[in-house]
Amino acid sequence: MGLKGLKLPFASNRSKLTCTYKCGNACYGECANTSDNEYFGDIVSRRGVLQAFGLGVVTVGGGAALAACATEDEAAAPEGTTSPQDTATQANDAPPRPGMQFESVEPNTEDLVVVPAGYTSAVLIAWGDPVYEDAPEFDPMNQTAEAAARQFGFNNDFAGLLEHPDDPNRLVYVCSHEYSTEPHMFPNYDPENPTDEEINIGIASHGHTVLEVSKVGNSGQLQREFGPLNRRITGTTEFELKGAAAGSDLLKTSADPTGTMVLGTFNNCSGGVTPWGTFLSGEENIDQYWANAAAVTDERAAEDVKRFGVEEGASERKWERIHDRFDLAKEPNEFHRFGYIVEINPFDPESTPVKHTSMGRFKHEAGTIHVTDDGTVVCYSGDDARFEYIYKFVSSKQIKEGDVAHNMTILDEGTLYVASLEGNSPQDQITGDGELPEDGHFDGTGTWHKLLTATADGVESHVDGFTGEEVAVFTRLAADAVGATKMDRPEDFEPHPETGKLYLALTNNSYRGATGENAEKSKEDVMEYAPIRENKNGLVMEIDDEHAGESFTWNLLLVCGDPEAAQTYFGGFDESKVSPISCPDNLAFDSHGNLWISTDGNALGSNDGLYAVGLEGENRGQVKCFLTVPKAAETCGPIVDDMRVMVNVQHPGEEDDATFENPGSNWPEGGDSVPRPAVAVAWRPDGKQIGVDA
Ligand code: FEO
Ligand code: CA
Ligand code: CA
Repeated sequence: MGLKGLKLPFASNRSKLTCTYKCGNACYGECANTSDNEYFGDIVSRRGVLQAFGLGVVTVGGGAALAACATEDEAAAPEGTTSPQDTATQANDAPPRPGMQFESVEPNTEDLVVVPAGYTSAVLIAWGDPVYEDAPEFDPMNQTAEAAARQFGFNNDFAGLLEHPDDPNRLVYVCSHEYSTEPHMFPNYDPENPTDEEINIGIASHGHTVLEVSKVGNSGQLQREFGPLNRRITGTTEFELKGAAAGSDLLKTSADPTGTMVLGTFNNCSGGVTPWGTFLSGEENIDQYWANAAAVTDERAAEDVKRFGVEEGASERKWERIHDRFDLAKEPNEFHRFGYIVEINPFDPESTPVKHTSMGRFKHEAGTIHVTDDGTVVCYSGDDARFEYIYKFVSSKQIKEGDVAHNMTILDEGTLYVASLEGNSPQDQITGDGELPEDGHFDGTGTWHKLLTATADGVESHVDGFTGEEVAVFTRLAADAVGATKMDRPEDFEPHPETGKLYLALTNNSYRGATGENAEKSKEDVMEYAPIRENKNGLVMEIDDEHAGESFTWNLLLVCGDPEAAQTYFGGFDESKVSPISCPDNLAFDSHGNLWISTDGNALGSNDGLYAVGLEGENRGQVKCFLTVPKAAETCGPIVDDMRVMVNVQHPGEEDDATFENPGSNWPEGGDSVPRPAVAVAWRPDGKQIGVDA
């Protein structure tokens, strides 16, 4: 099929087809970060002050930005919490706390959504279902771009659920549509010669959906509705470029000589809901949509396309054949207008979405917010590629309650930082096989380094050799220059709603400290913050940040994998009593303070799933699988509230030997149907709350 299917060993069980269409083959290529920056030393750690900020939060469920924080004393020792140091020497084993009181789902390869006994699930909406009342029903044999722009898009990833402004029996569901998988979307698809209509359907299948949903009785079940808030955002929706780089020469194109307006958004991975009722979405693997990197002549821009991984010749989808803006030989700056965090107001269907350039341009997994006691907004974002960095943006403006127009400018003015991390144990105690160092923990300190400060009047660079606008656009290159720390594919950040601590999924990095044939692809040996050689199953880091300050401490909560394998670590919990977990990706919290983790690319041979993790006391590190998704699917966008658990089932059946005609899954409709990415909702038919035995 002309796919770039290289026969290289894969760490996770993600298919080569998923690599090609989801991440533009970031999975197997040479690591693009060839910078030689090393980790920082001599860091003084200071505990951040976490105080309550009393702002109404309109969101429920995963991805929600939560403003409330504990006081300093509470943050230092939340009730029932032991620090990692206290739990080093004994394995915990305790009955699950509220929120986790369910029978764990066993690893499986069913072509189903599997939920615990006593729970049920149903599909809310699937690829091709109408979002607008006048849209046609799904008909895979008669697709058009016009219909696709009014139907639910492909490969939904991030999910948020907001209160409905008018109707207490309704909620507003929002999601991103990360990417299109043309060989599985179209009958007889020829990747060498896509039709114009197929190209335009692909573009229309990206973006976002805003959907009104109604509650079914008193259960957690939800039903899709047609309502005035329903909206599709696609690869051709107009976005306003704002912040540090807006209007700069780097963003000007022949279609937009002002450098302030751009059509569409692509590869929107995860995101977050803001406290002011909008949602953020990260533009991630954008490189794959552009062609002809070899034509870029500007030295820094050429370095940038190489770092992102743009093809030197034709792109996989070949959109450049009919749309000049995807051809770097014709429009070298269009590429600079993607790779940002975008913000969308779901309550105003006529509003123009925004791209916030002050938060930098890289492969944003997501953007998630913590609000400090004075209303300052701190937005965290990981750059999801091997050996890339973690960032935060600290606003100079404060939230004004009820003023959405003001609040949607907060992420344009402030300071962008990138992190360096250092372990506190001697390097010779980091063996690469998961053995804990003598102090019993993978832990240490970190520092945030300023990259740019954007104001209403302009942008200041904190990086020698870069203008402020260049820092905003060529952010990875600027981060190299200040000595950022190379991480194992940073995915979601999620702030704990009460303690303010941050949780960070580091999904995997098969080249970390690699030996043998991959030795040249390793850009750094094992380190205390990335202590597993050829890390196949990922890590979950807990970070105690100063939020608006420049220091933090960190420790590894989980070293994921098969608990029977020596290298895993489950926060001190008894490893004989946890679910295996591999490749953590998206994060959410329930109302009981348990962390929920969805996985992408389970390297243990079973389907991906959604896991609840205890954080406090004797439950710290207890991992229980709540749900698994169908064959070859990824679990995305978890939302966990008291009445329901929602996941976005992305790319079901995306296997290398699958085609539209010979699908790798028949979920959700069964029979010989084509698989459809969809939203699954799980609830208890007995009407009781999720994970609560009562
Ligand atoms: Fe789209 Fe980082 O996963
Ligand atoms: Ca240590
Ligand atoms: Ca992800």
